[in-house]
Amino acid sequence: RGKKAFIAGIADDQGFGWAIAKALAEAGAEISLGVWVPALNIFESSYRRGKFDASRKLSNGSLMEFAKVYPMDAVYDTPEEVPEDVSSNKRYAAAGDLGFTVSDVARNVEKDFGKIDVLVHSLANGPEVTKPLLETSRKGYLMAVSASAYSYVSMLQRFGPIMNPGGAAVSLTYLASEKIIPGYGGGMSSAKAALESDTRVLAYEAGRKYQLRVNTISAGPLGSRAAKAIGFIDDMIKYSYANAPIQKELEAREVGNAAAFLLSPMASAVTGATIYVDNGLNAMGLAPD
Ligand code: NAI
Repeated sequence: RGKKAFIAGIADDQGFGWAIAKALAEAGAEISLGVWVPALNIFESSYRRGKFDASRKLSNGSLMEFAKVYPMDAVYDTPEEVPEDVSSNKRYAAAGDLGFTVSDVARNVEKDFGKIDVLVHSLANGPEVTKPLLETSRKGYLMAVSASAYSYVSMLQRFGPIMNPGGAAVSLTYLASEKIIPGYGGGMSSAKAALESDTRVLAYEAGRKYQLRVNTISAGPLGSRAAKAIGFIDDMIKYSYANAPIQKELEAREVGNAAAFLLSPMASAVTGATIYVDNGLNAMGLAPD
């Protein structure tokens, strides 16, 4: 039986979410997506116009298909807590009765597919990411943690009950959680620290309760849309090239492959882990030259 996967956090073919989808598709999984509501129109129209066709190509020559695409906003857990200005916004209102909160999406996925096996969280948002922590507002900080860390907790709360025992979840984190990365601000470093700590606690709780494994991948720099918004991604890629043990640019595909491993029975004893997929940069203590 092919595995059923749900991936939150794809809005184009440039990020880690897409690469994970591809690796899972290569492994025969049936994939559904949760796409951030403000990004949904452009994603669907680009998809229809064939903009992603080249990157949809699988090794057997066929094109990757998505079983279903759901509008989603991972900062809301239930319809009751969506503020009026959001629910009346044209793009959000378009979701109609099906909704877009984490609990709505989990319910819709279960209705359409029954129980699933694989859960992927490949999303982050920090409105003040370009600000140093010393200048970050409480609101900006809490928004970063809400969108980028609590969203994983919320997803496991609501998808855990609709996952088959033996299933697995993975998210994406970044070295800034544990080492100083100047420029990764706005509480995003704090959010990644929370995400990694939560990965351990969720591994225990969801392991005991649902027999699920919960891991996170600490990825090296990639020029995705989200990363470009931070502003210094090209410098990070150059820094990694100059200083990491493996001198090459990180490909999203490499993270996709590591995720496919973590989400497969090959990793049946791996849980609660932060796995580095970063050409080894995390292991360096001092720049070599
Ligand atoms: P991306 O732009 O492809 O993915 C981020 C996604 O999050 C976008 O599709 C966006 O629509 C979605 N999103 C934002 N707010 C949302 C919300 N409230 N609800 C639902 N979806 C929402 O960029 P990327 O870089 O692939 O990001 C994926 C993950 O990888 C993130 O957790 C990021 O922090 C992490 N990461 C990225 C690195 C990089 O250098 N690009 C390095 C290490 C980790």
